[in-house]
Amino acid sequence: MTTLTHHEPLNALLRRMPKAELHIHIEGSLEPELIFRLAQRNGVALKYESVEALRAAYAFKDLQSFLDIYYAGASVLLKEEDFFDMAWAYFERAAADNIVHAELFFDPQTHTERGVPFETVIRGLHHACQRAHQELGISSRLILCFLRHLSEEDAFRTLEQALPWRQYFIGVGLDSSERGHPPSKFERVFARCRDLGLHIVAHAGEEGPPEYIEEALDLLKVERIDHGVRCVEKPELVQRLVRERMPLTVCPLSNVKLRVFDRLSDHNLAALLEQGLVATVNSDDPAYFGGYLNQNFIELFEALPQLGAREAYQLALNSFEASFVERAAKDAWKQQLDHVFGAAL
Ligand code: ADE
Ligand code: ZN
Repeated sequence: MTTLTHHEPLNALLRRMPKAELHIHIEGSLEPELIFRLAQRNGVALKYESVEALRAAYAFKDLQSFLDIYYAGASVLLKEEDFFDMAWAYFERAAADNIVHAELFFDPQTHTERGVPFETVIRGLHHACQRAHQELGISSRLILCFLRHLSEEDAFRTLEQALPWRQYFIGVGLDSSERGHPPSKFERVFARCRDLGLHIVAHAGEEGPPEYIEEALDLLKVERIDHGVRCVEKPELVQRLVRERMPLTVCPLSNVKLRVFDRLSDHNLAALLEQGLVATVNSDDPAYFGGYLNQNFIELFEALPQLGAREAYQLALNSFEASFVERAAKDAWKQQLDHVFGAAL
């Protein structure tokens, strides 16, 4: 790696800097082409005639209208190799974006509900993680997400199914339809997960109110908030998040596609950083939202002129600091980052 020259465009720097991705639903990386290939391989019928017709349906009015299509897309995943192929395709994209570490969410209930064994899902994903480390030098971890539109009982059952594979995932999260499904619904499941030594995260304050962020902190005892952009509606909550150095995994292109913000130029990420929040940039469901991680950085920095090299450095550093890895790995990535930025800051 060479160091930054004074004239290197910001875009080149954003692409080149090492970074971690902490909010990526691996099922949301399933590109239409791969959906069609797997549908054919597995003899699954699709509602859409072509890749183009499927892609044309990706016009969402809110979170739920996206989730309906996202769960339908995942219906082509049946075999261990399907899960491997999906995750491997993501890791190849991640390598191109200079992602050195990724923490992948997966939604087991989307698959076990269709009769796919938990073992099939986790073996395929784990295999891709191993190969990404060997062949691409990317470190990764898996985080099991509970679907919040389903019951507490279903979440407990899923946790039981996952326990034989405890060493294959490092934490649990909470995703799917946020409104009407507050974190409190899963307080007991998360207490059990904490007893098991799992890391804890939850989606909160994407579409749901800031009170859901407070519940995630107080009841689930999360270590990161996924999204969290609606925290700004409660200044005392912002102060708390700053004080506790609670990371937010923010997903700019997702927020525009799901109409959390009308335009990227309305996004509050620059304001969050300005207020001292530990914000990170992530892709969420890149196959559905118009771009992988570097695309999120580039479009965001183009839309928000307050963001420059200093903020790029801070966001990359935050992604390492907020990751669930040992101190030595974080320090090594910071050194790589310092080398890329050189004397530019
Ligand atoms: N599942 C996949 N993407 C999600 C999002 N942005 N919010 C909630 N659940 C999700
Ligand atoms: Zn998400």
